[in-house]
Amino acid sequence: MKRILVVYYSRSGHTEFVARQIAARCHADLERIEDRHSRQGVLGYLRSVVEAVLGLRPPIERLRRRPADYDLVIVGTPVWCWNVASPLRTWLQRHRSALTNVAVFCTCGGSGHAKVLDDLEALCGQRALARLVMTERAVGQCQRDPALHRFMLELKRVSSVSVSLPPAQDQATA
Ligand SMILES: Cc1cc2nc3c(=O)[nH]c(=O)nc-3n(C[C@H](O)[C@H](O)[C@H](O)COP(=O)(O)O)c2cc1C
Repeated sequence: MKRILVVYYSRSGHTEFVARQIAARCHADLERIEDRHSRQGVLGYLRSVVEAVLGLRPPIERLRRRPADYDLVIVGTPVWCWNVASPLRTWLQRHRSALTNVAVFCTCGGSGHAKVLDDLEALCGQRALARLVMTERAVGQCQRDPALHRFMLELKRVSSVSVSLPPAQDQATA
């Protein structure tokens, strides 16, 4: 069985929610990137804007999982000012050389997502096996979202990942 890691950054929970759904469907390990300094409040928001626009790489906590131990790493970020969230940028810069196969996803208000997925691929140094966008309005219902379903099926098709899908969806696409 392939070893899969879902690694993500999430400031307010949307990306985390989607990451958990993905990990549950492909039996993956889950790793959340943690800031060293708080991003709450207006100052935290402004710092996020500045770091995203300038492409900065802030300090992050050391993570438990080693991406080199995995056959596939699924990387997720919120969209920040049409850019990758800066803490994920830090993680990718450190671990890019250890990534064998990647898939990418992002959550957003509704703009900048295509550029961010392209940027994620560039930061990973390779094309993604599958890409997913989830708007923040759709996050709560993403379990039933056809886009998530297609993302999982694409991973299964291109990399033989073992995927569990809800029975109704399995039948719908059989
Ligand atoms: C600093 C900042 C910048 C953002 N910029 C964008 C943006 O350019 N386009 C967009 O659609 N959403 C933008 N958003 C909204 C987030 O992408 C969206 O709420 C996302 O789902 C948050 O994910 P999280 O809850 O995992 O942090 C921004 C949010 C923040 C905090």
